[in-house]
Amino acid sequence: MAVDVVIIGAGAAGLMCAAQAGYAGKRVLVLDHANKAGKKILMSGGGRCNFTNMDAAPGHFYSQNPHFCISALKRYRPEHFVELVERHGVEYVEKAPGQLFCADSSKEMVRLLLTECEWAGAEISLSTRIDSVEREGESMRLETSRGRIDAGAVVIATGGLSIPTLGASGFGYEIARQFGLEVLPTRPGLVPLTLSGSWKERAGALSGVSLPVAVEHGGYRFEEPMLFTHRGLSGPSMLQISSVWEPGEALEIDLLPRCAAFDLLREARASTPKRLLSSWLGEHLPKRLAQALVEWYPQAQTQAPLAEISNEALEAWAERLNRFTLKPSGTEGWRTAEVTMGGVSTDAVSSKTFEVKGMPQLRFIGEVLDVTGRLGGYNFQWAWASGVACAQAL
Ligand code: FDA
Repeated sequence: MAVDVVIIGAGAAGLMCAAQAGYAGKRVLVLDHANKAGKKILMSGGGRCNFTNMDAAPGHFYSQNPHFCISALKRYRPEHFVELVERHGVEYVEKAPGQLFCADSSKEMVRLLLTECEWAGAEISLSTRIDSVEREGESMRLETSRGRIDAGAVVIATGGLSIPTLGASGFGYEIARQFGLEVLPTRPGLVPLTLSGSWKERAGALSGVSLPVAVEHGGYRFEEPMLFTHRGLSGPSMLQISSVWEPGEALEIDLLPRCAAFDLLREARASTPKRLLSSWLGEHLPKRLAQALVEWYPQAQTQAPLAEISNEALEAWAERLNRFTLKPSGTEGWRTAEVTMGGVSTDAVSSKTFEVKGMPQLRFIGEVLDVTGRLGGYNFQWAWASGVACAQAL
């Protein structure tokens, strides 16, 4: 068969691109090896899809070329997607500032995208294996489990490597290499961190305890909740920092963000000298964590009245509370990561049309590219924006 455009990947970017290209009058065929479209969308946002962030500024994305995302994000903004969501009658809620989630279920987001594709006349072929993608003069030829397909252009929208059970594969990177594009090293991002040895046991004993923290690393600072897990640390702050953390590096975690613990402790010593340090800890931290600190640091006068604790000892406690230092042993890896850091280098791709420079019949959109958003709806906004920009240029 012959079509104008084959899009490989019926995920967020691929479906968005397919609908837009279909509306523009192109004959579009979307191929996916999975048996369902938009599997990651269904899983996203805890089943309620954080589909955009109203503050989707380029500064919220990581890439070797931080300018690459600017053009598409400027042209297709969160308001545009919200308008589409409203047109389809999907109810949504702003769970945290700027972060919009489906009020009911992520299924509504997949339904919206499939409806758009249907209205636009874009065909979707699931459970389809793609054996090869070759250039044939000005167009492209694919060998698939559906047979040979000739296409004016092929758009690679195969996403990243996270959660292989949802259909993730390195196919997009293989195609990039086949056509001479550089693929930057990939690693899991927005992923829980693991601990080893006694710290793993300690975290495990606190599993389920969550508290607001600030974590700083490599020039980035995230002030969001942290969650202890059986394997280590998770919660928004740890997912965020995982994207910029490298194995072997230690993290400094402020367990009392925006509070100078030394000043607080000195004030408490002056106003409530008989109070035990352990009781003060229990007032400022979740009870289970306060109790654990008492057990972890038995020599640190936790059962002494504050009046008996020297400035030096208070300083040591302030250091523990404001600069708690831990060295994660690793991450939970692709099994649970939300995104892929790195990917197809943007150097050889146009930020306006998403075509490979010098080869307009091949394009890359969405997460397969070396553009990765922070936690909070940015990754979907990138998928929508890159999909639309590519479709408009087809
Ligand atoms: P996407 O992964 O959506 O789609 C790729 C498609 O390509 C898949 O359908 C796959 O089957 C297909 N494919 C792969 N290899 C293939 C091959 N060889 N042949 C054929 N087809 C192939 N982001 C956000 O903004 N808000 C959120 O709430 C969340 N939550 C979230 C939760 C979880 C658990 C995960 C794993 C991820 C998120 N994300 C997120 C990230 C977000 O899901 C992700 O960035 C986008 O889905 C990326 O869109 P793409 O279309 O690029 O890839």
